[in-house]
Amino acid sequence: MIIAVDGPAAAGKGTVARALARHFGYHFLDTGSLYRMVAFALLRARQDASDVAAATAAARGLNPQGFRDEDLRTEEVAAAASVVAAIPSVRAALLDLQRAFVRKGPGAVLDGRDIGTVVCPEAEVKLFITASPEVRARRRQLELGSDSYDAVLAEIRARDERDRNRAAAPLVHAADAVVIDTSEMNIDEAVAAAIAAVGR
Ligand code: CDP
Repeated sequence: MIIAVDGPAAAGKGTVARALARHFGYHFLDTGSLYRMVAFALLRARQDASDVAAATAAARGLNPQGFRDEDLRTEEVAAAASVVAAIPSVRAALLDLQRAFVRKGPGAVLDGRDIGTVVCPEAEVKLFITASPEVRARRRQLELGSDSYDAVLAEIRARDERDRNRAAAPLVHAADAVVIDTSEMNIDEAVAAAIAAVGR
């Protein structure tokens, strides 16, 4: 059983996907963290996120155990992640890691941008979790403890734009995905809507 959870930045898909995995007793993979790791590795080595050769080498040699979560969760790393994520050879390298993960029984929940369209088009359940940019910026501002709502909103809009308009695996909802708009929902309501959509 595979549950694909996609959506734009800070829509609540990570929270929903984790809760679904807990609820059904499935494995969970935050695929965005893989792109964040590649981005962080480049920033740490003072390399440019748009350097195709460096980004591809970092993705191919990625050891997901070698990172601390707090280093990955910044908006600087998120912005660089969306730059490396537009590079097809980076996506290809990370695809192998993700496909190996979904083979784990009894089931897996993956969250990202292209899970229902590219990584697991065969997923039994596909959810697309979204919310207005303003709501998403407010949530991310709270999560980061950031002072500037305007800066977070601008960053989220820029990242959405890059993720939606890239040629390789753009952010788009699969034709067979259930769309859940969490703009007017709290976490419990969003999780309940997702569990209901899984329908089992
Ligand atoms: O948590 P948030 O939604 O802000 O971001 P994330 O899921 O950690 O993803 C960071 C960036 O990685 C995104 O903006 C995408 O550019 C990229 N990404 C992707 O291209 N494909 C995925 N399956 C997951 C993330």
